[in-house]
Amino acid sequence: MTADGVNLITHPLVQHKLSLMREKDRSIKGFRELLNEIGMLLCYEVTRDLPLELVDIETPLAPMKGPKIAGKKLTFAPILRAGVGFLDGMLALVPSARVAHIGLYRDPETLQAIEYYFKAPQDLSDRLVVLMDPMLATGNSACAAATLLKSRGARDIRFVCLLAAPEGISRFQHQHADIPIWTAAIDERLNDHGYIVPGLGDAGDRMFGTK
Ligand code: URA
Repeated sequence: MTADGVNLITHPLVQHKLSLMREKDRSIKGFRELLNEIGMLLCYEVTRDLPLELVDIETPLAPMKGPKIAGKKLTFAPILRAGVGFLDGMLALVPSARVAHIGLYRDPETLQAIEYYFKAPQDLSDRLVVLMDPMLATGNSACAAATLLKSRGARDIRFVCLLAAPEGISRFQHQHADIPIWTAAIDERLNDHGYIVPGLGDAGDRMFGTK
């Protein structure tokens, strides 16, 4: 389903797994596995319209022309730390993708995104970059990450998250109107601490057991 540049993934498997992740008593192991599985399903969706080209192949019985993915190579760009939770699932589907790591943390006072690490392949301009972070909350991290990618040459970017707040979507679309969003849910609002409500809590803490 598409509305205003947001691709809402309503697939029953995604919705079911997301509800399991939201449950406060879900184990760290369970949370991590589910995020990985949803990463795989979201990868399927975000690559749905990649162009194909017909190439010559030979089956054991006959030559034929078969479709293969054409054009741009993929780069997955997780925002550290929680974005890494999607990565294995995505790489399971596209094992040859490159990875750009983007280290940002949220200043707890200002909620602004502060960069502490950036390492990406050289040729970002030739690649489709899939930027990923489970939570699109204030939008500060996603906006900063997209700006960084663009400053290093990326021209074709898609953003994938698990949950989005309306505030995050509008900030991101305001700053990066050229980048479409894929999400499994749009929740009600942000609370005073910048957390998504009802949300699922702090995705990084729940993945890594740091709280
Ligand atoms: N980051 C999270 O992990 N959770 C939120 O609700 C908002 C930002």
